[in-house]
Amino acid sequence: MAFDIKKVVRPNIAVLKPYSSAKDEYSGEAKVLLDANENALGSPLIKWYNRYPDPYQLEIKTKLAAIKQVPASQIFLGNGSDEIIALLFTAFCVPGKDNIIICPPTYPMYEVNANINDIQIKSAPLLPDYQLNIAHIEQLVDANTKIIWICSPNNPTGNSLDRVDIETILNHFEGLVVVDEAYINFSKQKSFSQSLQDYPNLVVLQTLSKAWGLAGLRLGMCFASEEIVGYLNKVKAPYNINLPAQELTLKALDQVSQVNDMIKELVEMRIALAGVLQNMPMVEKVYPSDTNFLLVKIPKATELYLFLLTKGIIVRNRSTLENCADTLRITVGTEEENTQLVDAMAEWIDMTFE
Ligand SMILES: Cc1ncc(COP(=O)(O)O)c(C=O)c1O
Repeated sequence: MAFDIKKVVRPNIAVLKPYSSAKDEYSGEAKVLLDANENALGSPLIKWYNRYPDPYQLEIKTKLAAIKQVPASQIFLGNGSDEIIALLFTAFCVPGKDNIIICPPTYPMYEVNANINDIQIKSAPLLPDYQLNIAHIEQLVDANTKIIWICSPNNPTGNSLDRVDIETILNHFEGLVVVDEAYINFSKQKSFSQSLQDYPNLVVLQTLSKAWGLAGLRLGMCFASEEIVGYLNKVKAPYNINLPAQELTLKALDQVSQVNDMIKELVEMRIALAGVLQNMPMVEKVYPSDTNFLLVKIPKATELYLFLLTKGIIVRNRSTLENCADTLRITVGTEEENTQLVDAMAEWIDMTFE
């Protein structure tokens, strides 16, 4: 395969002269900062919040490089991985001309961003076992296909996609292959972040929102070639990661062992909850999960969803998605929350199917 990033990037982005911030235009120690129209007197919060943050978040990338074993130059950070998804469209997909391939049921933001950008969506639904339909994907690819979106472990099905299938796509497709690994820390699968050398068309997404327990912080990570990272840097807002988020991320990255303990506990709780749900009458299937949630198939799922709402328990009704009739996606909660969920489900099952 002859992958050429210059054929994938939008022509106008290839020649774009990006915004050059005050911080882009000097290096070294600055003593008097009169360049960015900040408030020299300070701020009502922490003093230094009067200053703009590092546009390229180099301290975070240096720490992440050690944790993730990916060079800092191949890391891009976003305001959540949702921002990175949006920026991939901005940099690589020409509105009204290009198309992308998605494999539903999957994370809906790929489709939403395609629609925002007037990008045609081609759909190769997952097979009944929720694995990729490689033959279908191959049929859909044309000269304007820019990105194939793969989510592994997949949301909402919970399973990891076959690594060999993903490699087949990476080997044969001449556009970008985005592997969204938002849930990878809950899985025993190896991250594709260690395969960047082998695949110049690979883009790996991860996030601090799930295993790291920092959804409120909004910090998404992208691992890709330096060229791809370069194009994302061109199209991002100058200061896309705010200063408090940068400071808190740096602190959080020192807590790897605490995060690993939470992951272990959540995985144990997921296995326990799956066992309990599987043994409940009427539950047809609890799908295998490599994540911190379970997809559960049960008759009249929408009725159960509405019943749970009346109890103040919110799960995600996935019943209208392709291949997901009568399913609920349930996030693993605390022991107490899981017990409340199971008790409420048992009450509804008794009432409905006596
Ligand atoms: C598969 C997947 N990708 C990306 C995201 C977005 O993550 P973030 O919080 O980093 O924007 C989610 C959030 O639910 C997700 O499930």
